[in-house]
Amino acid sequence: MINNGKSSSLTALVSGATGYVGSHLARRLSANGWKVHVIARNGSNLTMLHQARDSITVHRHDGSTESMFAIMEQAAPDVVFHLASFAPIPHTPAHIVPMLHSNIVFGTQLVEAMIATGVHRFINTGTFSQHYDNVFYSPASLYDATKQAFKDILTFYTETTALQAITLELHDIYGPGDSRPAIIPILQKAASEQKPVAMTLGEQLVDMVYIDDIADAYELAAVRLFTRQEVKDEVYSVSSQNPIRLKDLVEVFENVTGCRLTVQWGAQSYLSREIIVPWTKGKNLPGWRAKVSLEEGIKKATAAAPEY
Ligand SMILES: NC(=O)c1ccc[n+]([C@@H]2O[C@H](COP(=O)([O-])OP(=O)(O)OC[C@H]3O[C@@H](n4cnc5c(N)ncnc54)[C@H](OP(=O)(O)O)[C@@H]3O)[C@@H](O)[C@H]2O)c1
Repeated sequence: MINNGKSSSLTALVSGATGYVGSHLARRLSANGWKVHVIARNGSNLTMLHQARDSITVHRHDGSTESMFAIMEQAAPDVVFHLASFAPIPHTPAHIVPMLHSNIVFGTQLVEAMIATGVHRFINTGTFSQHYDNVFYSPASLYDATKQAFKDILTFYTETTALQAITLELHDIYGPGDSRPAIIPILQKAASEQKPVAMTLGEQLVDMVYIDDIADAYELAAVRLFTRQEVKDEVYSVSSQNPIRLKDLVEVFENVTGCRLTVQWGAQSYLSREIIVPWTKGKNLPGWRAKVSLEEGIKKATAAAPEY
């Protein structure tokens, strides 16, 4: 059972565990006593699993449904944490097949294999950008539409099988060791190289959530699936409830790090569907709130040298 996030007997299967958020979650679950299995591709780089590599079981998925069924039988998880995703924004025609495979086919193979092997607890990952213009559904990009499409497929399984699912819609995530092209690593690079950084006009609001708070949300969602049989198909927004203008975020970054940046505001144009106001109408996961303030989070995120 789970007690204060700690578990000595439960098994987790994590997809996307070679990525930033997934690797952090896999390491956290392993540190909290879960038996952690992860799904990687044949070419996946396992570096992000760092020191937990020895206590985590890695299953290689060859893209087929048969391979997914075999992984599910071997892992026999109590909960599946689904974070695998491919997010080219904006996309090109060449991205169509790999994006639909990563964001729709892969997840469907995962859930189908769960049902076939009697595994019923599923935590899915959505995104704030499925809500362009702060409306219930309006995809800011094709990537967001594929996330919504998989969520709709999930509803088929929760309505017709014993599957229990919680979808966590994440906002902008930041933290240490982040090599993704995200806001904080970009500012860190500009600061350490003392080079000007081209940005949009910076009027958009961003909802920044520290990686440890994100891992808390996944653990809490797992507790909810274990303790509430009535959960069938819930969706929660993992928001700081405190969006900040990008321009002001840069100022906070400068104050916290003591680094002066040369920002070329407006040198980059907004995306065609740039999110100016992030999703603010989503329900927060009961019992969860962001505990790490932006100042504290930026201090922690910039303490360790970024990995480029
Ligand atoms: N700002 C944010 O970070 C943000 C905001 C909203 C939502 N999200 C969601 O949060 C989740 C984690 O995001 P992230 O930034 O940590 O992602 P990431 O660093 O880009 O990692 C993506 C992960 O997905 C795996 N993956 C992709 N396609 C796959 C496939 N076809 N088969 C197996 N594995 C596949 C990758 O494996 P390889 O190592 O093999 O490439 C990698 O482990 C995603 O679902 C994303 O949509 C993130």
